[in-house]
Formats: sequence, C-alpha cells, structure tokens
Amino acid sequence: MVSLKAALSSASILVALFAPAALADNPINPSFPYGSTKVRGVNLGGWLVLEPWITPSLFENTGNTAIVDEWTFGQDQNRQTALSALQNHWSTWITEQDFIDIAAAGLNHVRIPIGYWAFDVGPGEPYISGQLPYLQKAVGWARNHGLKVIVDLHGAPGSQNGFDNSGHRISFPQWHSNSTNIARTNAVLKTITSLFINDQDVVSVIAPLNEPAGFDGSDVLSAVRQYWYDSYGNIRFPYGTSQQSNTVVLLHDAFQPLSYWNGFQTAPNWQGVAMDTHIYQMFSQDEVSRSNQQHIDAACAYGSSLSSFDLWTIVGEWTPAATDCATYLNGRGVGARYDGSYPGSSRVGSCTGLTGSRSSFSSSYKTFLRQYWEAQTITYEKGAGWIQWTWKAERADDWSYQAGLAGGWIPQNPTQRQYPNICN
Ligand SMILES: *[C@@H]1O[C@H](CO)[C@@H](O)[C@H](O)[C@H]1NC(C)=O
Repeated sequence: MVSLKAALSSASILVALFAPAALADNPINPSFPYGSTKVRGVNLGGWLVLEPWITPSLFENTGNTAIVDEWTFGQDQNRQTALSALQNHWSTWITEQDFIDIAAAGLNHVRIPIGYWAFDVGPGEPYISGQLPYLQKAVGWARNHGLKVIVDLHGAPGSQNGFDNSGHRISFPQWHSNSTNIARTNAVLKTITSLFINDQDVVSVIAPLNEPAGFDGSDVLSAVRQYWYDSYGNIRFPYGTSQQSNTVVLLHDAFQPLSYWNGFQTAPNWQGVAMDTHIYQMFSQDEVSRSNQQHIDAACAYGSSLSSFDLWTIVGEWTPAATDCATYLNGRGVGARYDGSYPGSSRVGSCTGLTGSRSSFSSSYKTFLRQYWEAQTITYEKGAGWIQWTWKAERADDWSYQAGLAGGWIPQNPTQRQYPNICN
C-alpha cells in the first residue's frame, strides 16, 4: 500500500504540472459536435466481452455450470474448444450488416466494450485473446456507414467491479488495491489510444474504464480519480505534451451522484471531457417493485441533474427493460428479484411475457416499453444524449434495440415521439 500511494501522488503532480497550460491555447476539435448534436447510439454488448445473459447459448453449450464469465470460459473447458467458440462468436454476433442497420435506424454512435485481455494476458490468467482484429474491423465498418465509435475499456486486471461483465465475476474487486493492475491498465489505455491515433474521425471518444465500483468505498474512488488524471494525459496527449488529440475522454461516474464530480476536469483547464452515467431501474428490490408509471416518473426525474452538470453528460447505458427477468441478468445460475427467485428478494410478479421473445409480449406491455423508451430518450437528451444497452440479445427482447425496432416500441427514427409530453 505504501508504494501504491507514493506512485499515485507523484503521478498526480505530473498531471497537474502539464495539463492546464498546454490546453488553454489549443482547444479540442472533436469529430462529432458534442454538446450541440445529441448522441444517439447503442452498445455492442456481449460481443468482444462475453455476458451470459446476452448470449446464454455460448455458456450453456459448454455443458459446465461453473462457466459464468469470460475468465471461467477460458479456464474450465478445453482451450481449443473455447477458442473455436469465441472465434465463431466474434465473427457472427456483430457484422457489417449491424452497422448498416444501426445507421439506418438514425443512430450516430456505437459504444464497443473490450477487455484488457485483448491486449495483455498475464501469467495465470486464463483469458483467450483475439478480439482486437474485430474491434479494428468495427472501426472500418463505422467509417463506411457514418457512425462514431466509443472504444470502452470494460474489464481491467483484477476486475474493477467484480461483475461478470468485467470478465471476472468475483466477490470483491481487486483492481484498485493493486498498483500492478493499475499500471497494466494505463499501459492498455496507451495502446488503445495509439492504435486509433489516425482514426480520430471515427473513434471520437475513448472511455478509459467502465463502471469502477465506487460503492465499495473511498479506496476505490481515490484510485479512480488518479486513474482519470492519468487517462486524461494518455488520451488527450498521445503525441507528448506539445500536441493534443481530438479524442474525447469519457469518464464514468463510478456510481456516484453527478454532484460528487462537480468541478472535476472542467474547462478551461481541461477540455474534451465527458461524463458517462448509467441508469437502470432493476438492480434492487425497491426498483423492481415500481409500477410502470413510477418507472417513467423516475426516468423523467433525472432531467435536471443531467442538464445542469458541468461536463457533457452521456447516459452511456440504460434500457427500456423494467425488470431483472432476463435469464442470467444477475449472473449465470442466479435468479430474478422480480419473480422472487433471487436470494432474499420478494416476488413482484411472474416474468412470463416480460422478457424472452417479443412474440410473447402483450400489446399493453409494448405500449409501456414505448412510453418508457420515450421518457428516457427525451430526458437523456437534456444531457448530451444516450446509448442504449444493448443492440441485440439472444433471449431478452426487452433489452434489444434491434427487437424494439422490429416490434415497434422503438421508432425507426429516434426523434419521432408518440408521447412527446410524457415527462410534463
Ligand atoms: C497484483 O496484480 C498482479 C496482476 O496484475 C498479480 O500478479 C499480483 O500477484 C497482484 N499482487 C497482489 C499483492 O495481490
């Protein structure tokens, strides 16, 4: 711990010395007019970072219930089998056709999660790499179809949150407390920045770390704050201190209220910084117990904090789903609060007809999904815009943008509203 703290404070002094003077006379000119044009986009979830609930078949096909995340996917089955399954998944789950469809739906951004193990697999880590060529193809497809890409580092060494979607489902995150893990993450971020240094017209944003577990306390938050300083240097000054990039840094709020970050990396001393906040209403008993109207009211209530925050604020993850019914959403082998199958939860109702295939959705449910979708997009456009989680999912049409378009609860043009006054 002593050496970690020493490393943190010297890094902090370095950032403080070079950033303000270098920036003041050379403002950023990003390839998308953040702040004046709204971000409207989708996440390409479950592609280059596996998530059991997005592609349950990949996990079930292993025949091994101990395989619950990408770490155990590499660890607990034959390596060649795992590699073949991954390669097949990478080359089929998202293709150029998806970029065509996303652009045709009137969207302007895709956020692409990727794990550190695409760049660096340490000794004893069972991860399988091979994702990077697909990320590079995706940038080309985005260019072909006029979409901007947010490259999102979604998993860090040690795991920044312990969630399966960080690659490794563990009870307490190990990223923040280990200086080797943090140094490796900084190195990965430098690699990402240099890989796309000539693609700033497409990769307009880099998100240095998804969802660090700020709820685990001040040790996490102080590591995150320092990492955000280091990331600013890595993303905005890839050529050294004399010249800055046009790449926007998308911080995550680390599950703190936006007010916690008031004044953090703000202009004029810092430029090209945006804040990512994720809004879900199903990961607690209180939230799954809300009525449809309460879900809509809660979404609308975010408007004032989003519009008044001092950085461009993007709601980088949210969903029209209002329950945790999607199979494996809380982890492979874990039930749902909504139907009482999650440990310690109390049942709200049956999950039947609320997730899975849209063929089971009633017309009144689809009307609610449309209203909730509009309430959220109207509200999140009071900030800098929104990126829905997620483009597609095997068995959770309530979460899928693609299924929403086909089922009619998401409009073909995202600015079309049937309920323009839903938040009034
Ligand atoms: C810190 O993380 C590295 C992997 O990045 C690991 O090899 C090392 O054992 C960890 N150190 C401690 C003290 O846990």
